[in-house]
Formats: sequence, structure tokens, C-alpha cells
Amino acid sequence: MSIGIVTAAYIVASIFFILSLGGLSKQETARRGNLYGISGMVLAIFATLLGDHVTGYNMIVIGMAIGVVVGGILAIRVQMTSMPELVAILHSFVGLAAVLVGFSTYLDTTAVFTSTEKVIHDIEIYLGVLIGAVTFTGSVIAFGKLKGLLGSRALLLPARHWLNLTILVVCIYLGYEFVQSGEISVGMKPLLIMTVLAFIFGIHMVMAIGGADMPVVISMLNSYSGWAAAATGFMLSNDLLIVTGALVGSSGAILSYIMCKAMNRSFISVIMGGFGTKTSSSSTGSEDIQGEVISITAADTTELLNNINSMVIVPGYGMAVAHAQHPVSEMAKRLQANGIDVKFAIHPVAGRMPGHMNVLLAEAKVPYDIVLEMDEINDDLPEVDVVMVIGANDIVNPSAIESPDSPIAGMPVLEVWKAKQVIVLKRSMASGYAGVENPLFFKENTRMLFGDAKASIDQVVGSL
Ligand code: TAP
Repeated sequence: MSIGIVTAAYIVASIFFILSLGGLSKQETARRGNLYGISGMVLAIFATLLGDHVTGYNMIVIGMAIGVVVGGILAIRVQMTSMPELVAILHSFVGLAAVLVGFSTYLDTTAVFTSTEKVIHDIEIYLGVLIGAVTFTGSVIAFGKLKGLLGSRALLLPARHWLNLTILVVCIYLGYEFVQSGEISVGMKPLLIMTVLAFIFGIHMVMAIGGADMPVVISMLNSYSGWAAAATGFMLSNDLLIVTGALVGSSGAILSYIMCKAMNRSFISVIMGGFGTKTSSSSTGSEDIQGEVISITAADTTELLNNINSMVIVPGYGMAVAHAQHPVSEMAKRLQANGIDVKFAIHPVAGRMPGHMNVLLAEAKVPYDIVLEMDEINDDLPEVDVVMVIGANDIVNPSAIESPDSPIAGMPVLEVWKAKQVIVLKRSMASGYAGVENPLFFKENTRMLFGDAKASIDQVVGSL
């Protein structure tokens, strides 16, 4: 295929990717957005494979076959609740690919450059490997934290900011050495040392970020993986990879900004690894909790629901674990049929990935117009008869507002305790992802419906 046709195909693919991002920004158009993305990617792969520079297909076919089999099996098997881990590990592959492409490009002696081009080429390689290495280990650690293999608490080393600063300064110096080196045998040493340092930085950066700040890390690593892909595009002189990487990088950065705003955190403080996080973050906030836990049965819950006018449902990670979205949707329908005003309230970091709850509710066919964002509903909560919290914990924790020493202090939450009555569905008194005790469970107007959320809702629906 001639270079002109390949370029035209790349432009069309880029347009598909932009339309895809636009589509994914709203639930109503998300399916279409995905289709645009798939179409763009299929076009991009074929245009690349049919380009003049491809000299043989054997290795490509073997690589693609392995990728299709592994990716296909993983995608079929993955549970909705495990999607964030899958995304994190996929980000790590992008990072690792950038590192490997960087080294192979550096070792490729066939390309001929003028001295200026060589400097630019070396900077591309150095930055590509640096971003790729940070993305790789950072994403592996994020995978471990999300999968529960590593604790979610922040690792706050005493001199952590000095450590980060030292690594940064040494990497800049090594970059200078690398670009000056001229010969592969000389340049390899600073490149290898920087790669190891970047690996360490990636591990340290994500280890230092605590539970409740993990959403920002995920979107930030998403952004890094985009920049790593763009850097790979520069190294391989592939325009489409540069454009696609830049789209992913910038949309991930915007998402990180939105997440930070939603959680009242400064982006810099989060990426600097818990900068500003109090060392008392080992506290669980349990010290000043007063009151007693009052439980309620499913039968009493149904009776209560038969005598109300308005209800707000707050879904959280536990609803995803219990696969309770379909019975929850059924319950909402039946209550609406009984004349009760039912709404859903979504916290921006509910669950384990951006939009997690929206996806589950859309799957269970809950109409979009009764699903409201935190900011849209918080002020109305004092007027609501019953708020039902289904497997949510951190996102409804009053200590974020009431206790300045809490590790989640300052994070906006759904102020459900202001409603007339709160019913919390969970299995035990265990804390949520951030590992912080929740005074909501001890409030006078709170009733705890203990048990698996799906089993509890099934009982309520059965008797409504
Ligand atoms: P969490 O605070 O994690 O609380 C979930 C609660 O669900 C747990 O306390 C658990 O209590 C309960 N639960 C688990 N399985 C259940 C089941 N089968 N039936 C009933 N209850 C069940 O969740 P959240 O309130 O949605 O808050 C999200 C947290 O995750 C935040 O800290 C957020 O920062 C963090 N996070 C979010 C993201 C994104 S992007 N959304 C990414 C990473 C981390 P029991 O064990 O007692 O049942």
C-alpha cells in the first residue's frame, strides 16, 4: 500500500478515535463511542500491516495470535469488579512496550542521521524509556493494590520527597550523558541506570499514594500510558501512534484533574506521592466514634419502604461485588410503581473505576434521568425520607467532613446522614477501601441491614 493511502487511513483512524472519545463522554452515546474506537483500531492495524515498511508477516502473525488468545480469554473471564486491575495491567504493557521499543531503536544501527537529528532521536528514546519505565512499574503496583495483593495504605517514607527529587536530578544528568555519548557502548550505561531509577520511581510514586487517592492514580497512569505510546510513535516515526498517544495522554490528564477536583485534592499533591498527607494517615478515625449500631431485618425494611414518599439509593463497590444491580433496579421500579419518588446518587469515585456505578446501573436498565451526580443531589438529602446505602462506605463517611485528622478529610462525600432515615446494606462492620472507620453506622437515624447486598435486596423485592 502506498504511503499516501496509509496516511489517509491514519487520518480517518484518528478521526474515529476523536469521535470515540466524544461518544464515551456520555452514557447515552458510550456504545457508539466504543464502536468508533473499534473501527479506528481495526483500520489502524490494517493500514500499518499493509504499509511498505513491513517486510515479513511471520513474527507479526505469531505476536498477534498470542495477543488475541490471551486478550480474548482475559476479556471473557474478567468480572466487572476486576476491570480496574485489568486496566492497570494493560497500562503496564504499554509502558513496557515503550521501554523495549526504546532499547531496540537505540540498538538499531541501520538508521542514518545528521548530528541534529541524532540529538533529537536520542532525546525521544530517553524520554520514551523514562515515561515507559515509570508507567510500567507504577501500573504493576497499582494492579497489586487494586487486586488486594498489596495494602491500600500509603507508604510514607521519611525522606520521600528528597528521594524523588534526587532521582529526578540524577535522571536529568544521565540524560545529558546519554545524548553526549555518541556511541552505543557508552550511551547504554546511562540509559540502563536511568531505566532502573525510573522503575524505582514508578514503584515509590504509587506506593506513596493512599487508598482514597487511588482513583487519581489510575487516571494518571492512563495518561502516562498515552504519553508512553506517543513517545513510542516518535521513536518509530509513526504519526498515528503519536496522535493516539496524545489523545489518551491528554484525556487521561483531564480525567485526573476532574477526579482531583471531585475529591478536593490538589493534583500535584497526589502525584508527588501523598504530598501533604498527614503522617497520621495510619489512624483509622475510630477514636471518637460514639453511639450504637442498630440493625434491621429485610422484613422491617420492606415495611418501612411501604410508608415513605421519597428514597435515594447510594450504590457503592459492594453492589458491584454482590452483583446486586438487577434486583436493585427491580426494587426501584416497584417502589416507583407504589408512587415513591426514587433517585440514585452517584459519587464520582464510587466503586473502583470512573463511572463504575453508572455502567452497572445502565446494564440493569435504570433510566438515566433518575441517576444524579453527588453535586446535583447532596442539597436535597435532608428532605429525603430514606437513603438506602448499598455496599458503599468511604463515599458516605461523615468523618471526611467532621474529622480534620481523618485520612479522607476534605474529600466531598454524599451527606446521607442528613436524611430522615438511613439504611446501610453491608455484610459486616468492616471498613471500606480507605481503611477508615465510618461513624455513619453509629448514628441514631441509621439502621444496618447486614448480609450480602443481593440476598438482602432479593428479600426486600420479594416482599414489596
Ligand atoms: P468502599 O469504601 O470500598 O466500601 C465498600 C463496602 O461494600 C465495604 O465496606 C464492604 O463492607 C461492602 N461490601 C462488599 N461486598 C459486599 C456484598 N457482597 N454485599 C454487601 N456489601 C458488600 O466502596 P465505596 O463506598 O464505593 O468507595 C470507593 C472507594 O474506593 C473510595 O475509597 C475510592 O477512593 C476507592 N477507589 C475508587 C476508585 C474509582 S476510580 N472509583 C478506584 C480505586 C479506589 P463489608 O465487607 O462489611 O460487606
